[in-house]
Amino acid sequence: MILMKDIVRDGDPVLRQVAKPLTFPLSDHYKQLAEDMMEYLVNSQDPKIAEKHQLRAGVGLAAPQVGEGVQMAALLVPDDKGEIIFKEVYVNPEIVSESVRQACLSEGEGCLSVDKVINGYVPRPDKLTIHYYTVDGEEKTIRLKDYPAIVSSHEIDHLNGHLFYDRINKKDPFALKEDTVVIS
Ligand code: CO
Repeated sequence: MILMKDIVRDGDPVLRQVAKPLTFPLSDHYKQLAEDMMEYLVNSQDPKIAEKHQLRAGVGLAAPQVGEGVQMAALLVPDDKGEIIFKEVYVNPEIVSESVRQACLSEGEGCLSVDKVINGYVPRPDKLTIHYYTVDGEEKTIRLKDYPAIVSSHEIDHLNGHLFYDRINKKDPFALKEDTVVIS
């Protein structure tokens, strides 16, 4: 079971490296990693389990965040009522197209690997088309918008060595392009 002590924090070089693609069929090690990462997210969103194990709630977790420099990320995205609207493990994901229009979360973003609060809007594409493989090696292409697109962008950033605050405007953290969708 992945616990907070297993989460790699900002400053560790693995978070700044480009993760390596995986080959299929996945080894048992990487199949287990996918299960463990999703299990962390499920547990972290359950108030009782999260409190018991002191888990910070997360909607996404990328393999480099547990010290594995490979192209895998788990997503478990709830709506504002806690209903899961998107659940997937991406293997070798690639953004094949993205909207010019941007979106950001009204509250900014956080990350399990970043312990401090960093204020500011994190602009990302509002719509994304992502090509990826499932854990079983099935090829998929999906279109996402708004919150699931933002979480996907955050996790795919991790696989390319980027952290959310890299996208915050340094001079004016709350500056936004005029037509940016602000998601609350
Ligand atoms: Co993160």
